[in-house]
This record gives sequence, C-alpha cells and structure tokens, in this order.
Amino acid sequence: MPFSIIAAIATNNVIGKNNKLPWDIPEDSEYFYKIINGKPVIMGRKTYESIGGAIKNSQNIVLSHNHLLQLPACIVMHSISEVLDLYQDSTEEVMVIGGTDIYREFLPFVDRMYLTFIHSDVDGDVYFPKWQKDEWVVTDKRDSKSSLYSYSFVVLQRK
Ligand SMILES: NC(=O)c1ccc[n+]([C@@H]2O[C@H](COP(=O)([O-])OP(=O)(O)OC[C@H]3O[C@@H](n4cnc5c(N)ncnc54)[C@H](OP(=O)(O)O)[C@@H]3O)[C@@H](O)[C@H]2O)c1
Repeated sequence: MPFSIIAAIATNNVIGKNNKLPWDIPEDSEYFYKIINGKPVIMGRKTYESIGGAIKNSQNIVLSHNHLLQLPACIVMHSISEVLDLYQDSTEEVMVIGGTDIYREFLPFVDRMYLTFIHSDVDGDVYFPKWQKDEWVVTDKRDSKSSLYSYSFVVLQRK
C-alpha cells in the first residue's frame, strides 16, 4: 500500500488559513490535480469542506469521528487503521492530501512526498507537521514563481 503525501508548505510551515489555502497559486493547483488524477485521495473532514466537494476521477476517503456523517461521492471512515486496512493489498499510489493531523498520522506509512515549498512566511492557522528531513532524499526539484511567490516543486522518497 504505497501512500504518498502531497502538500504546499510555506517557509513557516503554514498550509492553511480560515479553512482555505492562504495563497492563490494556479500553477500549484494544476500540479496538485495532475499528480492526484485518478488516484484515491485521503483527507480530513475540514479539507473536504475547504475543497467543497468530492474530487472528480478519484476515490475520495474522508476521515471524521462523526459516525452519522455522509458525504456525496465519498467514503467516510473513522480511523486511520480503517484506511490502512482498505488499501493493505493495493499496489496503486494512494494520496494523502491533508490537513495537519491526517499528514501527521499517515507519515509513518508514507514513502513519497510531493511538496511545494513556498519560499515565504505566510500568515495562517494550520501547519504541516514536523518531519525528519534526514529520512528523505530529493528525487526531483523544479523552481518556479508567480507574481507574489517563488516556490519549488520537490519530490522526496523515503531513504
Ligand atoms: N497547503 C496544503 O497543501 C493543504 C492541504 C490540505 C489542507 N490544507 C488546509 O488545511 C486546512 C484544513 O486542515 P485541518 O488540519 O484544519 O483539518 P483536516 O485534517 O482536514 O480535518 C480535521 C478533521 O478530520 C477528522 N479527523 C482527523 N483525524 C482523524 C482520525 N484519526 N480519525 C477520524 N477522523 C479524523 C476530524 O473530523 P471531525 O471533526 O468531523 O471528527 C477532524 O476535525 C484548510 O485551511 C485547508 O485549506 C492545506
């Protein structure tokens, strides 16, 4: 079950603000949808709400502690272990798309990360969890910029 994380992260580790992305970077949104296309996605209930619906072309797994929650075109699950069980025999790449607790709890099971590093401190209220950089090797890196931000698309593999 190959789990991968995809996230866009500011220099101060901010990933969100007021349940939205704190930036508008069209190239990063395009990159996100290109990388996840057709793959199962795992997200927390707030990230689901911030996206505003199920992602097309993907199996959508939404984590919530609310056992009454039902969401259109999504499978609602209630624990990380339920998700790990679902994909234990899977060989396809399963994308972990946030937020904070979901990233943190899946990190031990993840062997690839697609991280967009935004080279600025950004005001926000949600952060990427701490991770051990020395456990990862960069396999791809591309720098780019928009009118407001410079950023790098980095792919990391667990050593
Ligand atoms: N920059 C990026 O790449 C990126 C990516 C994703 C999200 N974001 C941003 O991050 C923010 C949303 O993330 P967030 O960290 O606030 O929330 P989140 O992780 O998306 O959702 C949190 C919710 O997920 C559920 N949950 C978490 N762990 C669970 C577990 N082990 N078992 C069952 N349910 C669990 C709970 O739902 P219930 O309360 O329903 O029980 C919890 O309240 C937004 O601002 C969004 O724009 C940014």
